[in-house]
Amino acid sequence: MPVHAGGRAYGDDVKVDVLIIGAGAAGLMCALTAGQRGRQVLVLDHANKPGKKILMSGGGRCNFTNLGVTPAQYLSANAHFAKSALARYTPADFIALVEKHRIAYHEKELGQLFCEESSKLIVRMLLDECAAANVRIETSCAVQRVRKANESFAVSTAKGDIHADALVIASGGLSIPSMGATGFGYELARQFGHNVLATRAGLVPLTLSGKHQEHYQDLAGVALPVAQASVGKRSFRAGLLFTHRGISGPSILQISSYWQPGDDLRVDLSPEVDIGDWLVAQRAARPAAQLRNVLGDLLPKRLAQRLCELWLQSRPMHQYRDAQLREIGAQLHHWPIVASGTEGYRTAEVTLGGVDTDGLSSSTMQSKRVPGLYFIGEVVDVTGWLGGYNFQWAWASGYAAGQAV
Ligand code: FDA
Repeated sequence: MPVHAGGRAYGDDVKVDVLIIGAGAAGLMCALTAGQRGRQVLVLDHANKPGKKILMSGGGRCNFTNLGVTPAQYLSANAHFAKSALARYTPADFIALVEKHRIAYHEKELGQLFCEESSKLIVRMLLDECAAANVRIETSCAVQRVRKANESFAVSTAKGDIHADALVIASGGLSIPSMGATGFGYELARQFGHNVLATRAGLVPLTLSGKHQEHYQDLAGVALPVAQASVGKRSFRAGLLFTHRGISGPSILQISSYWQPGDDLRVDLSPEVDIGDWLVAQRAARPAAQLRNVLGDLLPKRLAQRLCELWLQSRPMHQYRDAQLREIGAQLHHWPIVASGTEGYRTAEVTLGGVDTDGLSSSTMQSKRVPGLYFIGEVVDVTGWLGGYNFQWAWASGYAAGQAV
């Protein structure tokens, strides 16, 4: 079956200026940018509709950027790589696009911008911009083979063969396979001689096992509004949630990108209150109260109860000496929890690692090995924190390549 590109029906061999594989955040941004420059652009995706991850993002409201984006919020083997693209397409640029399309948004917290209504509006905006720039998008189209033929690329697909002067790989990472994620981009990178750094799930709930899981699994659904999770010198202070399999919530998702099995995970259950001092003051005010009830005013009651069952031994407050209360405080500021693993790609928001940035130009995303080949978005070894940073990388890297192709 022939592919239709640029609104025209072609024969068996389609020829375009730019072929983009992956109609996600980065691919659509690259397509509309290149299309606006007059390039004839075709975007292929094997999924049945474009922008599926955008649709499910931010709980259906898409946290599309963050006002505080800097390169420091990204993980990569080369901490400098993202600087150029992030500087040339900023949150303000994306906000201007959102405002041009009259999409209402609000800042939730920490600079995170969300749609007022629905993520669908962001996908609609990108598709409208693509349509205005004469970009053709083909969904449900699997790529079978990619070859470099002289100066152009020959791509065999289920719908026919395509020749393109520039080939942009925007096929994302491995997270949420049920949404169409594949290792396609990594395999293609290797095929063309690129190094691919080991991948692992990021922004992902941590799992507990053995006695740790037994101790806490029935607390699933219990949440702390503020906890501080740390690995090494890296700390994140935000919510924590107990799940059936372990722990999650923003503080845990954030630290999961820095944690690896065997690392010492430290969790402070009440980072904003010195618990030792607080308990001493509570003893003066409520000497007959049980420790578990007092702690239930600081922590979720079911958690306070469980901690007392497990290792704090609740007694009336007047029976504790200052040093004992301060020791209890120290233990709660350093909760002895051991994570055994992560929930993996099934629930991860992102994939860490990927196409080694050493092989790419930081200003254009073009391969240093294969002229005309580009890698953008999550497939590249650049991973942002939780909070709109990953979409900003998708927009910025997509724009950089869209300007260059
Ligand atoms: P993306 O995954 O968006 O697109 C890749 C595309 O390539 C897909 O359409 C896929 O079908 C296609 N593809 C894959 N293999 C292919 C193949 N072999 N052939 C053809 N097509 C192929 N970030 C953020 O900043 N704010 C947020 O609110 C959220 N929320 C969020 C929620 C959830 C549940 C997840 C899983 C992720 C987020 N993220 C996020 C992360 C964000 O979604 C992610 O970083 C970007 O979508 C990455 O954009 P890309 O375009 O690189 O990949």
